[in-house]
Amino acid sequence: MKFQAPKGTHDILPGESERWEWLEARARDILSRYGYREVRTPMFEATDLFVRSVGESTDIVRKELYTFEDKGGRSLTLRPEGTAPLVRAFLEHTLAHGQPISRLCYLGPMFRYERPQAGRFRQFWQIGAELIGPGGPAADAEMIDLFVAIIRGVGLRDVTVLLNSLGDATCRPVYEERIRDYFGTRAEALCGDCRERLKTNPLRILDCKVPSCQPILEGAPSPLDSLCEPCREHFAGVQDGLRALAIPATVVPRLVRGLDYYTRTVFEVHAASLGAQNAVGGGGRYDRLVKDFGGPETPAIGFSIGMERLLLSAGSEAGGAWTPDVCVVVREESAAFTALELARTLRGLTDGGAVGGGLRVVVDVAGRSAGAQMKWASKLGARYAVFHPQDSDGYPVRDMTAGKDEAKQGTVEELSRWLLTRREAS
Ligand code: HAM
Repeated sequence: MKFQAPKGTHDILPGESERWEWLEARARDILSRYGYREVRTPMFEATDLFVRSVGESTDIVRKELYTFEDKGGRSLTLRPEGTAPLVRAFLEHTLAHGQPISRLCYLGPMFRYERPQAGRFRQFWQIGAELIGPGGPAADAEMIDLFVAIIRGVGLRDVTVLLNSLGDATCRPVYEERIRDYFGTRAEALCGDCRERLKTNPLRILDCKVPSCQPILEGAPSPLDSLCEPCREHFAGVQDGLRALAIPATVVPRLVRGLDYYTRTVFEVHAASLGAQNAVGGGGRYDRLVKDFGGPETPAIGFSIGMERLLLSAGSEAGGAWTPDVCVVVREESAAFTALELARTLRGLTDGGAVGGGLRVVVDVAGRSAGAQMKWASKLGARYAVFHPQDSDGYPVRDMTAGKDEAKQGTVEELSRWLLTRREAS
């Protein structure tokens, strides 16, 4: 019987995994420079956590959750997103520590039962950041600035920031009433899902992707026309902030995003290379979620970036390939074990401590001929071959790029340092 990875999932294989590691390192570095600290939450949570935050009438909750009952009869769900788990952890561990600002981030797989297609998976990875506490537009501007810094940090240039405001508890109901009226008079022409949304959550209609609904959506009232004065000012402040940071943003009044917890600012970033349907990432303000989860009134804003999409749009030049610095070529069968010891010393790991920046050293443990090992070394792209056991005049070393042989006398530690210096110089 042959097994395959489940539909909508993908393996990240050597060759590809170096690009992932590179991307993760870049993102972590930028997040830490902005003051964000990582939280790792479980892959699954109580189902209710997502129903209550993402929203009962969203596609994510209605159609895409991986929900199961555990042996204790609890309903659990593989996390479809990272914000609700992070806010849960934030409250559970009182991470605010009495401070008005918490900058938290996460990186890991999410699960949604979606129809797989290019850039759309059932298990996908997100990089996310959440700024909990401040409600003013400077926080929104920092968030978008950070988003763009990560995108630029991986070499993406051709991106568009889309921006909208959905209002707050004062003006959102006014807007919802307006679109309920608007869509109510056009209900016949809407798809079945949208007719349902009209009753449960009219804002979700604006997110409908069914082609026959599109002409009706085009003419729908804009949420920006219903904003109350404080929301209008807030939105103007966000745009001022982005101008000050020289981040161009396009206001798109139909941008509502697929999660219900948003208030005021929502945004998405699109890359030209991904096509119109696929955002590299998105986010927004969720000023009510902390309170909804039983915490104090605490505004917050965040975003998530899809890592598969980020890598897709970053192109193949992102990240370096893995190559060994040294292949130890075992010249005699009886030297197999001492070759392992030599390799360990060359790696700089003799004292049991892992000192950073040591050599990458591989050894043939398959007992192949020296010739076969040399072919293998060049196939791997090794910089040097070190022959073992050594000759009377030292360790024979071949510079695989220059095709030059020389013998190195002295201790293995000295040989290791010499190879390291050569690596750094190249
Ligand atoms: P989201 O828009 O649902 O937002 O997802 C953010 C990003 O995750 C998307 O733009 C996309 O890049 C990626 N993504 C989503 N679904 C898939 C999929 N099926 N396959 C591949 N990539 C996917 C959120 O998840 C919010 N938690 C963002 C947020 C954080 N809002 C506030 N804080």
